[in-house]
Amino acid sequence: MAKKLNSVVGIDIGSRKIKVCEIKTQGKEPIVTALGIIDTPEGAVDHGGIYNDEAVAQALKSVLSSSGISTKAVVVSIAGQNSVLVRTLEVPRMNPQELRDHMQWEINRNIPFAESTVVSDFKALGDDDPNSPNMDVVMAIAPQSAIDTTVSCIKRAGAQTAAIDVEPLSMARSVARSYDDELSGKTVCLVDMGASSCAINIYSGSKLLMPRQIPLGGDMFTKAIADDQTLPLGDAEHLKMT
Ligand SMILES: Nc1ncnc2c1ncn2[C@@H]1O[C@H](COP(=O)(O)OP(=O)(O)OP(=O)(O)O)[C@@H](O)[C@H]1O
Ligand SMILES: [Mg+2]
Repeated sequence: MAKKLNSVVGIDIGSRKIKVCEIKTQGKEPIVTALGIIDTPEGAVDHGGIYNDEAVAQALKSVLSSSGISTKAVVVSIAGQNSVLVRTLEVPRMNPQELRDHMQWEINRNIPFAESTVVSDFKALGDDDPNSPNMDVVMAIAPQSAIDTTVSCIKRAGAQTAAIDVEPLSMARSVARSYDDELSGKTVCLVDMGASSCAINIYSGSKLLMPRQIPLGGDMFTKAIADDQTLPLGDAEHLKMT
C-alpha cells in the first residue's frame, strides 16, 4: 500500500500537453500549491503511449522547474491503449484467497498487449449487495515496458515515482471528492476529451461501472477545420481555440 504523502506532484502526460500539479496537505485539506502545463514534444506521445521518453523527460523537467515545483514525489497516471487496460468484471462471490487465484487467471486471459510481461492489480469494489451471488472487481494491466518508460521519464526529469495510477480510477476519486453532495447515489458518465483520444467512463459513486477509451479527440476537429479552410494545422488549431 502506498504511504501517505504530505506533498505530492500529480503528472498527466498527454499526447499534446503535459500537465503537472503540486498538492500539499495542510491540516486535513489538500491544497494546490503549483500548476504547470507544457506542449508535449511533437511525436513523443500518442493515443498508444509514450514513444520518445527522452523528449518527454526534458519537457517534464522544464515544466516542473518553470512552475516552481520543489516536491520530488510524483504520482503519475498511465494512459494509452498500448500502455494500460482497465476493466470492471463481475465474478462469483468468493473469499480473498479464491479471488487472488481467480484474478490471476482473469488477468492472464485478458492481456491485450504483444508483450507478455505485465504489471497488474485488482480490487473488489466491495459496496455491492452482500446477498448477490456475484461481486464486482476492477482490474488494471500494464506492460512492464510502459511502466518502465514512465518511471524512467520521471527519474530523468529529476523526480521519483511514488505511485502509478490509472486514469479512470483517479478521475473517479477526483469527481467523488469534488461533487460528492450533488452526485451521491447517482450514475455519472464522465467524458474526458483529449487531443488524440476520448475517455468515456460510467461510475456509480466512485465505483467504475464501465471504462471505455475511443481514439477520437480534439486533433480530429483541428484536422477537419484545416481541410475545410485549407489552413496549416497550427492555424486551424488557433482558429478552433478562438
Ligand atoms: N478552449 C478550447 N476549445 C477547443 N478545444 C480546446 C480548447 N482548449 C484545449 N482544446 C483542445 O483539447 C486538446 C488538448 O486537451 P488535453 O490537454 O486534455 O489533451 P491531452 O491530454 O494532451 O491528449 P490525450 O489525452 O488525448 O493524449 C487539444 O486537441 C486542444 O486543441
Ligand atoms: Mg489527456
